Amino acid sequence: MFKFILASILVVFLVLGGGVAWLLNEDGAIELPGGMVVDVLMVRHALAGGEIESMEKAEIQDRIQLPPGFSLQLWAVGVPNARMLLVTQAGDLLVTSPRADSIRLIERDRDEDGSPDGVSLLLAGLDRPHGLDWHDGWLYIGEGDAISRVRFDPESRAISGEPERIITGLPNGGNHWTKTVRVGPDEKLYVSIGSSCNVCEEEDERRASMMRFDLDGSNGEIIATGLRNSVGFDWHPVTGKLFATDNGRDLLGDDFPPCEINQVEEGGFYGWPYANAPKIADPDLGALAPEKVAMTIPPVHNLPAHTAPLGMAFYDEGAFPQEYQNAAFVALHGSWNRRKKQGYEVLAIHFDDEGGSRAEKFVTGFQVGDDVRGRPVDVAVGPEGELFISDDYTGSIYRVVYGESAPRSKTPSSRVKTASSHPLARVPQEDREYAFKEGQALWQKFECASCHVEGKGPEPIHALASLSSRYDLSTLERFLLVPQPPMPAFPMSDEDRRKLSIYLFTRFN
Ligand code: HEC
Repeated sequence: MFKFILASILVVFLVLGGGVAWLLNEDGAIELPGGMVVDVLMVRHALAGGEIESMEKAEIQDRIQLPPGFSLQLWAVGVPNARMLLVTQAGDLLVTSPRADSIRLIERDRDEDGSPDGVSLLLAGLDRPHGLDWHDGWLYIGEGDAISRVRFDPESRAISGEPERIITGLPNGGNHWTKTVRVGPDEKLYVSIGSSCNVCEEEDERRASMMRFDLDGSNGEIIATGLRNSVGFDWHPVTGKLFATDNGRDLLGDDFPPCEINQVEEGGFYGWPYANAPKIADPDLGALAPEKVAMTIPPVHNLPAHTAPLGMAFYDEGAFPQEYQNAAFVALHGSWNRRKKQGYEVLAIHFDDEGGSRAEKFVTGFQVGDDVRGRPVDVAVGPEGELFISDDYTGSIYRVVYGESAPRSKTPSSRVKTASSHPLARVPQEDREYAFKEGQALWQKFECASCHVEGKGPEPIHALASLSSRYDLSTLERFLLVPQPPMPAFPMSDEDRRKLSIYLFTRFN
């Protein structure tokens, strides 16, 4: 099956002349010889899909709390929809921006002035790039339905050639469309693929699984199943065992089921959609497959319901105190469907030799009550042993260090706030009326109200309000093309997305 798909893609490539047309980035970036692109409008935040400002230094000092001796600094702002992180061998930080179809490079602080030496666009024109890793000269990128790779030299920061899609035809769209790709200690590619739905029996067996491939994309096999959405995974520095986060299902109330950290074994089944953590038959589907419930491997660590653990990284650098050696840092993206919000923090999970574990709140304060100022997505250990954290809510990267007093840094390049007018200000009245009607029809066709106005419980899953304060026409259209999971992606033309956006701005202003 894979060979067939690979072969057909190869044929298409040959027919088209082997070229992927690299678009200039939407925010007006300049492309340099060798594929390097300079993001001239780095400060433009619109692409982040919202106009939410990064926190200022004072706000960080006010809100953010860490264990004694640690401090957090804003490292970069204006990184649209910042998702997964990778520290290169030269100590630079790469960040994916799926909604902006691009990857940015944040230069290591070599001049030691307490802030990165620069930010540039490394790659643009990708298809919703999410996970990434580097091995032996190749940068591997998880795109919408594919894994691609391109030559990247960490020292010169040069990309050569064009990304080549080595795995294609992966299941795409649905609730969990992101692909995370990592190279394992066994020099194989590991790819996690989330479920298409909250809870259902999948038609494509690659859904809700962990897959493994050779480095050239061949010999794909499913190695573990029942993983609803394992966005982050890493190998224990001592035992070499593979650990992965997983998000429990929704709509079973505020406090059930737990989110999970699993130790992923070859051939293991981790429960979804028949069992919830630790090993409890699912009220909707559990009765269909009692044998699956029975064979479910419980998590090695349960996390509170709906906290949405995404990226994780084991720590094995000397810069943090001894108790953090071999602890796992886990980014919690936070609940979207809990009456009282929770998550929105970074945990350190300490494992002991007897198989026990203890979660410590490591960075908190992004959320206070209903007031959210950040949503952690991924964590990565930097060249000085520091911890980087990405936040797709404000498009920011933070850096946590130990033992230094407040960083000397200048505040990151401040953003120019342009006077904002209503997103529909330039759309003529009659176009608006026409688009409103057509947009309304799309709203009904895709049953958007089922999550945004009604819901299984007393309240909608996610109420829509004051969209015009956070989006303009183009960013809302982009959001509909590349939604924030678990909001599903729906098949629509560009024109449909415009009409639907006009409808949304009119109805939910
Ligand atoms: C299965 C439930 C579901 C359906 C169906 C759904 N959405 Fe969503 N949507 C969500 C969730 C959940 C979020 C919040 C995601 C997050 O930020 O964590 C969301 C977020 C959004 C946002 C961003 C809101 C904000 O506050 O920034 C917009 C706009 C939106 N949805 C529009 C739509 C439209 C239009 C449709 C129909 C085409 C639709 N949604 C269908 C679940 C759904």
